[in-house]
Amino acid sequence: MSSLTPWPKPCLGSGKTHLLGVFGDPVAHSLSPVIHNLALNLLGLDYRYLPFHVPPERLHAALQGFRALGGTGFNATVPHKEALVPWMDELSTAAIRAGAVNTVHCTDIVVGHNTDGHGFLAALKEKRPDLPQGAKVLVLGAGGAARSVLSALLETQCEAIFLANRTPDRAQSLAQFFASYDSDHRIKPMALDVERLPWEEISLLVHTTSLGLKGETSLPVAFHRLPTHCFVYDIVYGRPDTLLTRLATRHGLQSMDGLGMLIHQAAAAFTLWTGHDMPIDAIRAYLTHLGKPS
Ligand SMILES: NC(=O)c1ccc[n+]([C@@H]2O[C@H](COP(=O)([O-])OP(=O)(O)OC[C@H]3O[C@@H](n4cnc5c(N)ncnc54)[C@H](OP(=O)(O)O)[C@@H]3O)[C@@H](O)[C@H]2O)c1
Repeated sequence: MSSLTPWPKPCLGSGKTHLLGVFGDPVAHSLSPVIHNLALNLLGLDYRYLPFHVPPERLHAALQGFRALGGTGFNATVPHKEALVPWMDELSTAAIRAGAVNTVHCTDIVVGHNTDGHGFLAALKEKRPDLPQGAKVLVLGAGGAARSVLSALLETQCEAIFLANRTPDRAQSLAQFFASYDSDHRIKPMALDVERLPWEEISLLVHTTSLGLKGETSLPVAFHRLPTHCFVYDIVYGRPDTLLTRLATRHGLQSMDGLGMLIHQAAAAFTLWTGHDMPIDAIRAYLTHLGKPS
């Protein structure tokens, strides 16, 4: 290469670079590396955040390997959030309540945290600070994400939580899991039967199923039966929108997608690892810009 075309400066780390990352299977779609590396660059912190494709059978080995390399911490995504629980030396209150770990902090010991519930409520508060107090909420889906949503909702003054899932037994077991935090039986498990769900009663609809990501064009939601004041919260994120937020808008309903939740759960993990506040507004502006169709 001539002196007019210099070699690009390699990014090799400083030798003291702290390692962060996300374990998932799959993991390539995750926006977490973008969010964290952007925040680290903006603050000039000597950390790198990498995606690690970790199949379930290699989870424990990956945790040990990460610790052996002196990694600072990592996020966990599908399907590892519940599987990590028994491998932690300590669990935060939020991780115990949700029965799932999305953030691991490695010091002398490994501590499992759960920042998803915080992210869920923090993003809702930005858009609708009046919710979910006093609201009847319908949660669609009873998978891993619903755990954090339910755990967070139970800490609020919402009036009732209808929990509807395609596999009703899963909704039932989740309600049982939370029974000790739900002495007034606010969680009401039910089947995801569109005809029989209490659409007219609710002020907040929370969608936590994985529907809408694979080119589906409809969702099990009776939009015409929802009150006009009902707020629709899709925790799935899409760029620039999701199937549910698109359909909600078409029916004149206010809605939001899961980008805010993603950013707020990331920000809480970032502070745990680095001790710094994530520049949330800059991250949101960048991700929103990324989502704009070119
Ligand atoms: N914004 C954020 O920060 C954030 C955080 C976590 C997750 N998420 C998103 O939330 C979504 C769910 O994640 P997860 O971890 O909960 O996944 P999961 O544990 O695999 O659960 C999937 C849920 O979707 C339901 N489902 C799947 N296919 C369905 C269908 N054809 N009809 C009706 N229900 C169906 C499942 O019902 P069954 O029990 O009947 O199978 C289950 O309730 C994902 O899109 C994920 O990206 C977002």
